[in-house]
This record gives sequence, structure tokens and C-alpha cells, in this order.
Amino acid sequence: MRNQGVEQIEQSQESPLELISSMFASDMSEVDRLILENMQSDVAVIPKLAQYIISAGGKRIRPLLTLASTSMFNGDMSKSHNLAAAVEFIHTATLLHDDVVDESNERRGQKTANLIFGNQASVLVGDFLFSKSFQMMVKSGSLEILSILSNASAVIAQGEVLQLSATNDINTKMPLYLDIIESKTAALFAASCEVGAVISNQDKATVTAMRNYGAKLGAAFQIIDDALDYAADQKALGKDLGDDFREGKITAPIIFALENATKEEYEFWQRTLGYKDQKDGDFARAMEIITAHNALNKTIELAKTYANDASKSLKIIDNSDVKHLLCGLTSYIITRSF
Ligand code: IPE
Ligand code: IPE
Ligand code: MG
Ligand code: MG
Repeated sequence: MRNQGVEQIEQSQESPLELISSMFASDMSEVDRLILENMQSDVAVIPKLAQYIISAGGKRIRPLLTLASTSMFNGDMSKSHNLAAAVEFIHTATLLHDDVVDESNERRGQKTANLIFGNQASVLVGDFLFSKSFQMMVKSGSLEILSILSNASAVIAQGEVLQLSATNDINTKMPLYLDIIESKTAALFAASCEVGAVISNQDKATVTAMRNYGAKLGAAFQIIDDALDYAADQKALGKDLGDDFREGKITAPIIFALENATKEEYEFWQRTLGYKDQKDGDFARAMEIITAHNALNKTIELAKTYANDASKSLKIIDNSDVKHLLCGLTSYIITRSF
């Protein structure tokens, strides 16, 4: 359906993510083949654990962004396949590490790898996937690509550490929260889009536009993820609800709820998030306060401003079906339920 017209796209019942997935289905199967090839090792637990998390699926948004960005500029798709696989490796490595750090039990609708294989194996296989992603980037032969993706990896790790430092601090304010999500999530979205423009030899303004699009889309994506942690249908989400509350993570819904908190509410947050002293009924009480402060709606509004900025970033790019879908993706991620 690569040549599908804009009208057909508009009439479709499928979401923009499904449309992009089917548009790049054959490219994605090549990416999946590269993923499978590169996770092999003589050490049996490596392919076993990698297979466990990778075959559980995931939305594959980041590699799709790389493929879409390359194709929009008529770039070399075989180079793009390799980079898209490298991007998904970086993402998978961060998920393996993140689930250990967050002590999470569920990912992609199944038990987390740390629950099945243990923390040690999860961390080490995460390291293996990280290292593999670098070997794959080197194959691109471009120092610029290596620089973009290695910067993104460093920024993600920095973001996760920054988040760790802010955990349980209920005085965390919006600018710090935004700094965290821009690092831990938006950086890889930005890089995924940017590399597609770079391998297609686009000019600086175009590369920057794609980078900005990815960064804004990624921030909106994480803000919605933080809302879903309080509001999703767990089965659709495929992750446990309330992980952020249990861990004492100060995300957008909490920051909004704290804005005009009463003394009783402030003390509630200090006990449950600050001191992680939680008992039965606390999550329900948290939801009540969040609702009373309209904090989830405010969170969604915040995500929308990022999504709009993402869309605006594409203004300088020539119109095409792929561009249309990338624009559509900005509103889709606001309404997503998983
Ligand atoms: C999960 O990312 C981590 C966040 C940035 C919120 P995704 O929601 O893209 O995870 P998968 O790959 O689809 O499972
Ligand atoms: C995901 O962060 C990991 C990174 C973005 C590096 P979160 O902890 O917020 O996301 P989930 O809820 O576990 O997917
Ligand atoms: Mg997590
Ligand atoms: Mg985390």
C-alpha cells in the first residue's frame, strides 16, 4: 500500500500506527530478520531472553519512524533496515534495564524478563543488545549516524538516572519532569527520525525538522504513557497499572494534582510517594485526588501541545502520503490506549 492516496488513508478505519505498519510491512520483516540475526550468540541465555521480549511484539514505533523518514526522502531502504533494527535494539535494551530498575512484573502482555530470567540476566542481556546496536550502527559507515545514535543512548541513560534522583521527591516541578522525559524517551524518537533524513542526504533544515518532530512526538508519547499508568485498561496496555504510584515516581498527573493540593492531600502524597508508605486503598484515594484536580485532563492537554508542535515541525517538508501519516501519528498517540 505504499502508493495509497491520501483520500484512501483518510477513509481507512485503521489507526495511523496500523497504516504505517502496513505501509512498511515488507521493510519491517527485513528489520525483524536483522533483529533475529543480530541477537544470536553461542551463550544460550542471550538469544533465549532476547527472543522472549522481542517476540512478545511491541508497537515497533521507533523503527517505523526510521523507515518512514527514510522512505519519505527516497533514501536507501537497505541502510534504513539496519538502522531501524539498531534503534529497536537500543529500545529493547532500555526496557530490559528499566523493568529491573522499576521492579515491574508485566511488559507487552507477559511477565517481564527479570521475573522469568532474573535481574542479573536481564541487565547483562540488555548490555549485549546495547553493544550489538553499536556494531550495527558502525555498519552504516557514517560517523554522523554513529554520533546521533550514541548521543541518544547516553542521553537516555542520563534521563533514567535523573529520574531515579527525583523519585520520591514530591517537590519535583514540571521543568525537571520535562527534562527527564525529553531525555529518557524523546531522545530516541528524535534520533529515529533524524537518521532517516541523514542517510537520505537531506539538508540541515530538513534534518532538524525531522529531529524536532521526533522529539516532540516522543515527549507527547511519554506524557500519555504517564497518564495511562493511572487510567488505562490494563489488559490493553499489557503493563501493570499503578507502577509509577507504587515506585513514587513524580509524573505529570501527580505534578498537576499537587498544584493546588490541600494540606491533607499534600500529606497523603508525602506519605505514599515520598516515604513509599502505602496501604490498601491508597491507589484508589490517589485516583480520587487526581480526578478532583482534573489532573489527567491537564496531562492530556500538555501532551497535545507537544503533539501539535510535532505536527508543525513537518511544515517545511514536501507533502506526501508518508508525511500525512506522520502527521496523523501525532493525534493518534494522544488517543492511544496501549
Ligand atoms: C515503552 O515504550 C517505554 C516508554 C517510552 C513509555 P513503547 O510503548 O514504545 O513499548 P513497546 O515497544 O511498544 O512495547
Ligand atoms: C520506559 O520508561 C523506559 C525508557 C523510556 C528508557 P517508563 O518506566 O516510564 O515506562 P514503562 O511504563 O516502564 O514502559
Ligand atoms: Mg518502567
Ligand atoms: Mg522507568
